[in-house]
Amino acid sequence: MSDDLEDLQPVAPVGAGYVAKGHAVPRIDGRAKVTGQARYAAEIAVDGLVHGVVVNAAIARGRVLAVHDDEARAVPGVLDVLWHGHRPEAPQLAHYFETGEDFSTVPVKPLVSDQVHHAGQPVALVLAERWEAARCAAGLVRIDYQVEAHATDLLRHRAEGHAPKELDEDTAPPKPRGNADAAFAVAPVKIDAEFHQAAEHHNPMELHASTVIIESGGRLTIHDKNQGGHGTRKRLAKVFGLRESQLTLLNTFVGGAFGSGLRPQYNLLLAMLGALHLRRPVRVVLTRRQMFTFGHRPEIWQRVRLAAERDGTLKALIHEAVGETSRVHDFAEMVTKWSGTLYRCENLRGDYRVVPLDLPTPLDMRAPGAASGLFPLEVGMDELAQALGMDPLALRLHNYAERAPSGDKPYSSKKLRECYALAAERFGWPRRDPKPRSMRDGHELVGWGMASGQWIAEQEEARARVVLYADGHVEAETAASDIGTGTCTVLAQVAASALGVPLEDVRVQIADTRLPEAPTEGGSSHVASVGSAVDGACEKLRKKVWKLARAMAKSPLAGSKFAEVEFVDGKVRLHGLPGDALLLTEVLTASGVGQLEANFHLQPDEDEQGRYERAVHSAVFCEVRVDEAMGTVRVTRVVSAVAAGRIINELTARSQVLGGIVWGIGQALHEGTLIDHALGRFMTVDLANYHVPVNADIHALDVSFVPEDDRIVSRLGAKGVGEIGGLGVAAAISNAIWHATGRRIRALPMTPEKVMAPQ
Ligand code: MOS
Repeated sequence: MSDDLEDLQPVAPVGAGYVAKGHAVPRIDGRAKVTGQARYAAEIAVDGLVHGVVVNAAIARGRVLAVHDDEARAVPGVLDVLWHGHRPEAPQLAHYFETGEDFSTVPVKPLVSDQVHHAGQPVALVLAERWEAARCAAGLVRIDYQVEAHATDLLRHRAEGHAPKELDEDTAPPKPRGNADAAFAVAPVKIDAEFHQAAEHHNPMELHASTVIIESGGRLTIHDKNQGGHGTRKRLAKVFGLRESQLTLLNTFVGGAFGSGLRPQYNLLLAMLGALHLRRPVRVVLTRRQMFTFGHRPEIWQRVRLAAERDGTLKALIHEAVGETSRVHDFAEMVTKWSGTLYRCENLRGDYRVVPLDLPTPLDMRAPGAASGLFPLEVGMDELAQALGMDPLALRLHNYAERAPSGDKPYSSKKLRECYALAAERFGWPRRDPKPRSMRDGHELVGWGMASGQWIAEQEEARARVVLYADGHVEAETAASDIGTGTCTVLAQVAASALGVPLEDVRVQIADTRLPEAPTEGGSSHVASVGSAVDGACEKLRKKVWKLARAMAKSPLAGSKFAEVEFVDGKVRLHGLPGDALLLTEVLTASGVGQLEANFHLQPDEDEQGRYERAVHSAVFCEVRVDEAMGTVRVTRVVSAVAAGRIINELTARSQVLGGIVWGIGQALHEGTLIDHALGRFMTVDLANYHVPVNADIHALDVSFVPEDDRIVSRLGAKGVGEIGGLGVAAAISNAIWHATGRRIRALPMTPEKVMAPQ
C-alpha cells in the first residue's frame, strides 16, 4: 500500500505534552534576510538575462487604436516590443484569456485585445538587453486610444449594484433569521448608520517580480513572488498550454504579499510571453507605481441597523454592503458574514452588492472582507451601547454567542470571552468613565474604545516528506510558502519537536514545486495545513524508527508497543526510562539504513470539521489622543488579546499580531487610495502619497495570547494568526475617537478633515 493511501486514515491527536509550550524561536532564515544573502525573485543571477518593462494604459476605458513603437525599437539593446497586435503565437493563451476558463480569478489578461478596462492596464512590454534601455524605450512607446466614458465613483453609482456572481458560503450574506425589518421597526432602542471605506493597496516591501529561465528539453524554471507555487504553476500550465511537469516554480523568499500574491500577477504572464518568444531568460519587475495597477481592497459603502431591548438583548441586525468590482469580473469577499457569526441575534438580514466600475478588479487583502465588514458592525455596537447607556464590553458579553449563531453549531474552540477579560484587565477598562470628553491631557482629548475581531480558522490539503539521515540530521520538505510570516521556522520547530531532535539538526526545504505539494499560503491556514502535514510525516517516521529499534539485537524496546515509546534528545526510549535509550543515529547505523523517509498526505476531514464553526477571535482596546484644533489622532495605546489555538512560536506569532495592529492603525487613520474621477485614475500611487503608518505613528502595543488548543482545526492544535491582529482595530479607534470627542467618524481613513467636519 502506498504511503498516500495509508494517510487517508483519520489521524490520532498527538499527546498533550507535545510542544507543550509555545517557543519563541527567532526566524531560522532571519540572518539570510537581514544580511542580504536571501535572493528574491528579482535578484536571481542569470546569464543573458533580458529585461522586460511594462507600458500601462493611460486611459480608464476604451480601445488601443495603434501602438507606435519605432522610437522604442531604435533604442540600442531593445529586442522587441510586444502588444496585443504583436504577440507571440500562443493559441492556448488566447483561448484561456478569452474565455477566462479556470482563470477567472486573474482578471488582468495582458495583451489579449485592444480593449482597455482600467487605467494602468498593461498594454505593451518592452524587452531589452538592459533594464535601463527597456525603461527608456518604454517611455518612448506612443499609443493612440479611442477613449470611452468611464465610471470610477462608487458612491455616485451605488444604486447600480448587483449581487456578486459565484458567491460561496463565506462570501454570501448570512442566511436570514426571523424578520429583521419588523423587529427593527418595533424595538425600543436602535441605531441606523452609514459607513464608508476608501480603497486600500497592499504595498508589500518586495515589488512583484518574475524571472523566467528556459532550460533544456522544454523545461522552465520560474522565480516568482507569489503565495503558492503549485497554484501558480497550475494556472501557468493551462494558460500557456504546457505540462505542469515542464514548470518548476520557486518562491524561495517572499517580501510580504498580504493577498497580492494569491494568484499570478501580470508580471509573470508577461515574463513568460517574453521568454517563450525570445527563447531567452526574461525578468519583469513592477515599479511601486505599477503595484497600484492590478488589484486592491475595494472601496465599500455599508449601512448597519441594530436594535435591542432596553436590557441590551439584540433584537435585530441588518447589514448592507455595496462594494466596487470591475466590469470584467465580479469580486466578492466575506463582508457581511461576521454579522451572522459574532453575536446572538434572532432577527438578521444581510445584503451584499457590487458595482462594476472601470478600475482594476479588486483583490483579496489581509482578512479580506472582515477588515471592511467588522468596522460598521463594531462601531454600530458601540453606538448601540451609547444609546442604551450601557458599557460597550457589557453589551458584547450580554449578546455573546456560545454556539455559532449561523447554523447553530458548536465552536471547535472559542475563547473570545477570555480575550475580552484579559485585554480589558491589561488595558484598565474598568476605570473608564463612560462619558465622552471626560479625559483631557493638555491640548489633547483622550478617549478609550474597544472592539471584537473574528476570522476563519481553516485547514487545507497538504503533503510533506521528512527524511532522517544516519548522521542524525533531518530534512523536512513541503512546497509551503513563507511570505514573511515565519512558516519555515515553525515547520522546523514542528519537525524537531515531533522527532525529539534539536532544532539545529532540522533543515527545512520549502517554496519549490519539486517538493511535496502544498496549498497556497492564504487565509491564515498555512501552519494548520503544512505544519500538520510535517507533523504527520514525523509520526510515520517515528514508527519506522521504532520498528527498526525494536528489531535490534538486545533492544531495550523489544516487545514494546508504539504508544509506549518516546522520542527525546535525539533518542528513542520507553516512557520514563531514560537509561535505556537508543540514539536515532545508532538505530539507523545498526540497521544498515542510510536514511529513513516518510511521506504524509494531509486531507482535512471535512465532514468532521464541518460539524463545528471554526474561527479565531480577538479583543482590541485602544487609547487615542485627539488634537481638536488640528483634527489629528494619535493611537497611544493598543491592547490586543488573541485566541488562535496553540501558538507554536510566540515570537513570530506576536510579530504577526503586531503587524496586524499596525495595519489596523493604517486602515483607521492613514490608508486610502484617492481616485481622480475626471481621469478615472488612482492618484496616490507611491509611498509619498499613499500613507502607511511609520514608526512615529506607532506607540505602545500590547499583545497577549489566550491559551487555546483546537484539535478539530489541526492536529497541532494551532489555528492561525496572520490576519486576526488587524481586525477590530479600526473600529476600536473610531470608538475611542467618539469617547474622546463625542464625534462619530464612520468613514475610513479618519483623516483630520473628517475628524473636524461639522456633525
Ligand atoms: Mo491572505 S488575503 O489570505 O493572503
